[in-house]
Amino acid sequence: MPTEVVIDTRLKFINPTIIHYKTIDSTNAYLLGEHSHPGGTVIWADYQSSGQGRRGRRWQAPAEQALLFSIYWEHDKRKAPLHIFTFLAAVGVFEGLQQVLNCGDLALKWPNDVLLERKKICGILVQSKNSHENRYKLVIGIGVNINQPPAFFRDDLKQAGSLFSITGRRYDRVAVLRKILMAIDNGLIALDSGGADEILQRWKEYCPFIGCRIRVDTGEETWDGLFEGVGAAGNLILNDGRVRRLIHAADVSILNGE
Ligand code: BTN
Repeated sequence: MPTEVVIDTRLKFINPTIIHYKTIDSTNAYLLGEHSHPGGTVIWADYQSSGQGRRGRRWQAPAEQALLFSIYWEHDKRKAPLHIFTFLAAVGVFEGLQQVLNCGDLALKWPNDVLLERKKICGILVQSKNSHENRYKLVIGIGVNINQPPAFFRDDLKQAGSLFSITGRRYDRVAVLRKILMAIDNGLIALDSGGADEILQRWKEYCPFIGCRIRVDTGEETWDGLFEGVGAAGNLILNDGRVRRLIHAADVSILNGE
């Protein structure tokens, strides 16, 4: 049975009372399902048996060690394009974690990974469901690695870490969730008053890799080149010296002076 947790009554668009499950298949799948939910509903789980990642991958985290939650949102299509929510969520997680950590090398990587000391500590999966003519119905799913021990990040998880594995400190998941939800709520407030450009601007400010050499893997092709910036549709602009490509979906790695 789910329980309700009051997170912060100052939240404006996000419902201050969130729904908590000990175990669920996936918080994204739950909100994308048949039932309808008011905009601003948040589902938070201690464990997901079928957590979903980007590009059809799985997202796994041991019970009670990560922050796994999703926000249901509806938005007027004329006010902002769908891709802005990917950036809005990343900016919200960044700003929320900034307050929790106080310092540390936090960075955003296109499209929406959050890195600490160059290790991925958070993944974001934005999915939309049967949107109506003028409204998007979307789910913003966020997984933040909080208290997994260093030994968890072995083998194919070497590029990832948790707040604990990187800082050596354990964190209270609800306290982190509160900061992130407040920051995302501020983003939704900005977007409501036409602030899509401001959100993209903040994303660029938090991404130190613009102008760096990167490798882009679309799953079908791999290109190395200069990360020139983000286009109007949220695409990554890659310049390999001969061709400038607009990348819609891919995995990106940073080529440190290679
Ligand atoms: C990525 O691959 O980087 C995105 C991972 C997103 C994981 C989160 S955990 C909470 C929410 N529920 C899911 O099933 N996935 C997202």
